[in-house]
Amino acid sequence: MSEGIITASYVGATILFILALGGLSNQETARRGNVYGMIGMAVALIATISGVTGNLGILVGGLVLGGTIGLILAKRIQMTEMPELVAMLHSLVGLAAVLVGFANFMDPERLSHYTGIELTIHDIETYIGILIGAITLSGSVIAFGKLSGKIGGNPMLLPGRHFLNLLLLLGSIGLCVMFVQESAAGGGTMPLLIMTGIALLFGIHMVMAIGGADMPVVVSMLNSYSGWAAAATGFMLNNDLLIVTGALVGSSGAILSYIMCRAMNRKFIAVIAGGFGTTSGGGGGGASVEDQGEVIQIHAPEVAALLTEAKEVMIIPGYGMAVAQAQHIVNEITKTLRSKRVNVRFGIHPVAGRMPGHMNVLLAEAKVPYDIVFEMDEINDDFPKIDVSIVIGANDIVNPSAQTDPDSPIAGMPVMECWKGETTIVLKRGMATGYAGVQNPLFFKENTRMLFGDAKKSLDEVFKNL
Ligand code: TAP
Repeated sequence: MSEGIITASYVGATILFILALGGLSNQETARRGNVYGMIGMAVALIATISGVTGNLGILVGGLVLGGTIGLILAKRIQMTEMPELVAMLHSLVGLAAVLVGFANFMDPERLSHYTGIELTIHDIETYIGILIGAITLSGSVIAFGKLSGKIGGNPMLLPGRHFLNLLLLLGSIGLCVMFVQESAAGGGTMPLLIMTGIALLFGIHMVMAIGGADMPVVVSMLNSYSGWAAAATGFMLNNDLLIVTGALVGSSGAILSYIMCRAMNRKFIAVIAGGFGTTSGGGGGGASVEDQGEVIQIHAPEVAALLTEAKEVMIIPGYGMAVAQAQHIVNEITKTLRSKRVNVRFGIHPVAGRMPGHMNVLLAEAKVPYDIVFEMDEINDDFPKIDVSIVIGANDIVNPSAQTDPDSPIAGMPVMECWKGETTIVLKRGMATGYAGVQNPLFFKENTRMLFGDAKKSLDEVFKNL
């Protein structure tokens, strides 16, 4: 393929990626957005491969191997494991940036290609690429551990951690100066290796210091970092498309982090500095089950009766709906109630589940109409008018102690105020805590009823009784 066609394909792919992002911002257009993204990526891959001269065998071999692993992983992975998969994929972007950076540095023709200021700029690009890549790599591996429960949710708070971070930052800047000077004289390996070690430690330290309840911000932040790492790789490889694509991922991830922070009422810098959620993880923060009083149980036939009598019903899905795969029966119940002229709406908390938009994806999969699915801000004031709220496998997002207990790890996080309605029915298997590890006073309120059991089985029963 000629240079001109490759450039034109890159412009086309860039436009498709922008259309993809635009499409993904809305549920109705998300599917189309995904298709644009896939076509854009196919165009980008074909154009890039056709521009490569030599070593095609290795390239195709790598593509087939990577593609096969990706395909198997994507087929095997459960919807509930998506956040871990995404974290793992971010770590691969980081790893790629580190490897490309070192390959670039070790290129024997580097010193003959670049001289003077050009060499300095090229070296700084390489240095920054490896730095961001290494932070993304180790940070994402720790995020994977925290999301999959292999590493505890408690923030690890080293004494003097801010000072330590500052020291690591200053060390990296000093090493960059050393690297640029030594590289011009044919050296520079040592400062580059030391910086890589520091960046890996920094990534680990940064994510370890973040409390369980703030993980949504970390996921979107690493998403953004992986974009910047890809952009840095684009600079190293002089590949415009990679620069633009990386910048798109980096900036959209940054915007998502901002949205997540606003949703959780956190300041971005405070989350990165770590320390929120200090008491989270082991059921701490908030009184124990015994201290809070009795819970009132309810059974499926009574739930069905309450729902049939109701005029206004609000469904609040959480992580447990994803675990139980209860979205389809939720849709059946919704259809039945709507046919009985009950006004059913869904209230979606911005951090419900384990990844941004988790609940929207499940409800869309079950074909719940988009126009009855609302964001928290749109419906939170309506609860006093709601007859029955059904909380399906949610816990932290309906925890009133976020408003009342300043010591709670989720203190200050806006929550769905379902307790203000007439009756709240909570579906969960037992009295276990949610992701933030705090007990929930909602379960002990006078107008709350607990329907214990797997959410799908419970809702199957309710449906039969409807
Ligand atoms: P959680 O607070 O984690 O509560 C989920 C509840 O579902 C649990 O208490 C569990 O109780 C119940 N459950 C689990 N399996 C179930 C099943 N098969 N049937 C019925 N119930 C089941 O979830 P949430 O309310 O959606 O809140 C989300 C939490 O995750 C927040 O703390 C948020 O910060 C965090 N987080 C979110 C994200 C994003 S981006 N959304 C990313 C990382 C972390 P039982 O075991 O008693 O059944």
